[in-house]
Amino acid sequence: MSLPKDFLWGGAIAANQAEGAYQEGGKGRALVDILPAGKERWEALYNPKKALETKYDYYPSHRAINFYHTYKEDIKLFAEMGFKVFRTSISWPRIFPNGDELEPNQEGLKFYDDLFSECHKYGMEPLVTINHFDTPLYLVEKYGGWRNRKLIEYYERYAKVVFERYKDKVRYWLTFNEINMLLHIPFFGGGLIIDDDENADQIKFQAAHHQLVASSLATKAAREINGSNFKIGCMLAAGEIYPYSCHPHDLLKSVKENQKQYFFIDVQSRGAYPSYTKRMFRELGVNLQMEADDERLLKEYTVDFISFSYYSSRLTSADPAINAGNKSGNAFGSLRNPYLEVSEWGWQIDPIGLRVTMNNLYDRYQKPLFIVENGLGAVDKLENETVEDDYRIDYMREHLKQMMEAVDDGVDLLGYTSWGCIDLVSAGSGEMKKRYGFIYVDLDNEGNGTGKRYKKKSFDWYKKVIETNGEEL
Ligand code: BG6
Repeated sequence: MSLPKDFLWGGAIAANQAEGAYQEGGKGRALVDILPAGKERWEALYNPKKALETKYDYYPSHRAINFYHTYKEDIKLFAEMGFKVFRTSISWPRIFPNGDELEPNQEGLKFYDDLFSECHKYGMEPLVTINHFDTPLYLVEKYGGWRNRKLIEYYERYAKVVFERYKDKVRYWLTFNEINMLLHIPFFGGGLIIDDDENADQIKFQAAHHQLVASSLATKAAREINGSNFKIGCMLAAGEIYPYSCHPHDLLKSVKENQKQYFFIDVQSRGAYPSYTKRMFRELGVNLQMEADDERLLKEYTVDFISFSYYSSRLTSADPAINAGNKSGNAFGSLRNPYLEVSEWGWQIDPIGLRVTMNNLYDRYQKPLFIVENGLGAVDKLENETVEDDYRIDYMREHLKQMMEAVDDGVDLLGYTSWGCIDLVSAGSGEMKKRYGFIYVDLDNEGNGTGKRYKKKSFDWYKKVIETNGEEL
């Protein structure tokens, strides 16, 4: 079993979790810039009203790991590991500080020009997410985020600008990070603030529709600007949802939940609202408002490849009493699977689930897949200028083995970028202490530390993996 010679090995980060410099270079504020860290973060994600009033002013997202200023030395380290691809995102408010301007911020554009050139210096292909949880705050405050159809126009303008500007430097694009996050943490995914007396499903699916149309319009613009030289991908927070037992009710429940998860990709990849949405919307009381051209756009401009993050499988039961308890620790809510171990943050660890997920995604869409996030968030201890992170190596080794099994099963896979290849701020906790990297960054939750970079044990391990194209794990 071997991977294709041109397999894209690499790592991934996101602007808002790495760059810092949150008010430099003409950047406006993103919705994530007003969120607190630690315990309060979780509350704020689900009750963003308070965050909007308070506008928390916390270290992590504001200074992050200072990648805005250190990208040259960081990319050099990625190159040392042999990265063929580097996934990052463009910060929307660096390009359009408020989001609804007519002209982009030149300083912001220049930053990414330099960053992408730096990647090419080492033969590294940038893989760029257009929107990764950082919708401009102004669009949230003035327009209500993605519930407002106006955002389609602003996103389209932004996408056109970056396509034109970077057409010679970027080939792979993702329109929205984890587009299905909108259903789970609507503020993160769509800048949504939903009142108690509103039908939350109506607001969420309407916002989802706007993002889906925006994604198609971006794909249309990409084709017009650079034809098939651009490869446009969607991005799903994936993880097969298993039935709690072999009771048919549980199986049916898992089928329904998986459909809800795949809903976004069904539209982005197949080009139409799937048959099951009719009933799903009816039962949820959702009545989508569409414009005349929407269905045609969705149909004509589908994605070239399917990218996804994979951290864990999930588990569901048809019995509300069982479903009510025993939740695992991440945004998607899952029952605890007794066959799986969990990370320090309660995320279940299921390498075989990756193979299952890949098989299902490929069967469903028959388009190339790209794993753009996977990894273990853990507390690392810096000792003698390194971290002995065997636990991370074990986690990745098992996942990569299953990834290769899936390729052997026949799945067409373009590449693999591990999440947080350099330590960065956690999206869910807003802290530094949940680390994913091969490179340790000497900063703590309060921003104390030198910011210096240290290679962890996994650095050399991953280098070898890339060098041998996965033969030596
Ligand atoms: C994904 C996001 O949900 O998971 C990343 O795309 C995020 O932004 C990653 O960092 C890991 O989550 P966390 O909460 O551990 O940072």
